[in-house]
Amino acid sequence: MGTIDLKTGIPGPRSRAIVERKERAVANPLDLHAPVVIDRAQGAAFTDVDGNTMLDLSGGLGCHLVGYSHPKVVEAVHRQAARFSHTDFSVIPYETYVELAERLVRLCGGGDRKVALFNSGAEAIENAVKFAKAFTGRPALICFEGGFHGRTLLTMTLTSRYRPYKSGFGPFAPEVYRLPFPYPYRSAHPDEAGAIALETFERTLATMVDPAGVAAVVVEPVQGEGGFVVPTPEFLPRLAEICRRQGILVICDEIQSGTGRTGKFLAGDHFGFEPDLIALAKSLANGYPLSAVVGRSDVMDAPGPSAIGGTYVGNPVACAAANAVLQVIEEEGLLERAEVVGKTIRAAWEHVAEDVPEVGEIRGLGAMVGVEFVRDRETKEPAGEVCSALIDGAIQRGVVSVSCGPYHNVLRHLLPLVITDQQLDEGLGVLTDAARAAGSH
Ligand SMILES: Cc1ncc(COP(=O)(O)O)c(C=O)c1O
Repeated sequence: MGTIDLKTGIPGPRSRAIVERKERAVANPLDLHAPVVIDRAQGAAFTDVDGNTMLDLSGGLGCHLVGYSHPKVVEAVHRQAARFSHTDFSVIPYETYVELAERLVRLCGGGDRKVALFNSGAEAIENAVKFAKAFTGRPALICFEGGFHGRTLLTMTLTSRYRPYKSGFGPFAPEVYRLPFPYPYRSAHPDEAGAIALETFERTLATMVDPAGVAAVVVEPVQGEGGFVVPTPEFLPRLAEICRRQGILVICDEIQSGTGRTGKFLAGDHFGFEPDLIALAKSLANGYPLSAVVGRSDVMDAPGPSAIGGTYVGNPVACAAANAVLQVIEEEGLLERAEVVGKTIRAAWEHVAEDVPEVGEIRGLGAMVGVEFVRDRETKEPAGEVCSALIDGAIQRGVVSVSCGPYHNVLRHLLPLVITDQQLDEGLGVLTDAARAAGSH
């Protein structure tokens, strides 16, 4: 028997009643993707308030790499919450923060690195930029087409897609320049997509933006929201090389791609690429609000006392969760598991691609796999409607998944790596059946 167990139609009556209350009490921009209200969850599965058990292949939007309610995380959280739940680390420090910093330094290459903790992904990027500006004394930033970095003023400015994230919220932060990111599938020269983007980058520094004024580039090694876009192999190392020559720091946004999802702790590690600063969040603390900036000590030490911080940053309960997450990743071999899960996902979609012509490309690294849907494999016209019909159909059959990409036409897999083989087959079976139903054949 499988995990999915639907007792009512989706949504059931209890979910429906709570969602109606939500409509009256919660601001509309917080719109809902799945109309089911969760009651409890374990691993890759959750049960809603009507008793329907479903699979969440979005993993709490990329936060549940070690699964919902992992017993070791739950225990660490209980223990820490009972001891103390907050001090403000800068007023009264605690060891869990220091322990997590030590672990992250080791996992991010060791050597002369330091860590600062924050609450959210956006906050990590904001602060990575502050470190970079303090160190370089320069005002400008370069970011990339398709990038997503958050919803605060600066990170919204760094984010590429204007709708729904930016329209109506200007003026934006000054001195932010956006350049093309290699998107091989949508390039006229897929193998040269990286070289072409680098040419534009270098030309921009020669003719439009004075490199002596640029503090940092902010780049995702594999774009998340932008469509699970993997750059050509030379792009990141050469970008880092150009930046080093110009005294520009590289901030690697590993918020979605990091913490092991791609089969290495950092997605950047696939490219032999050493950024100056790394931002982590999402799966780092199993959904507890925690993010980290890990960087070169000289850069991390550059801002003055109290220039970096915040009341809640590095909350002890979230730190305890993160320490447990990192232990679980190691103990349960989740980096190796990412490779296995990724291969299974790819194989399932390659099979579907044989008879669903809307499957345009299957791409990714490790378990970070995206499937791009198109109306026509020649023209590559995006088929957002196929992707959304697939997602809606899958929810009705007990599987939650999410899309991404500039045209909302990429299905992204962000599933918990503790998912069992049986659950993985079951979940992929629902998704691929939904794709067959949504496609033209
Ligand atoms: C690559 C990347 N950067 C930054 C963010 C922003 O993180 P948060 O929503 O925690 O502010 C996200 C969130 O999806 C992300 O995927």
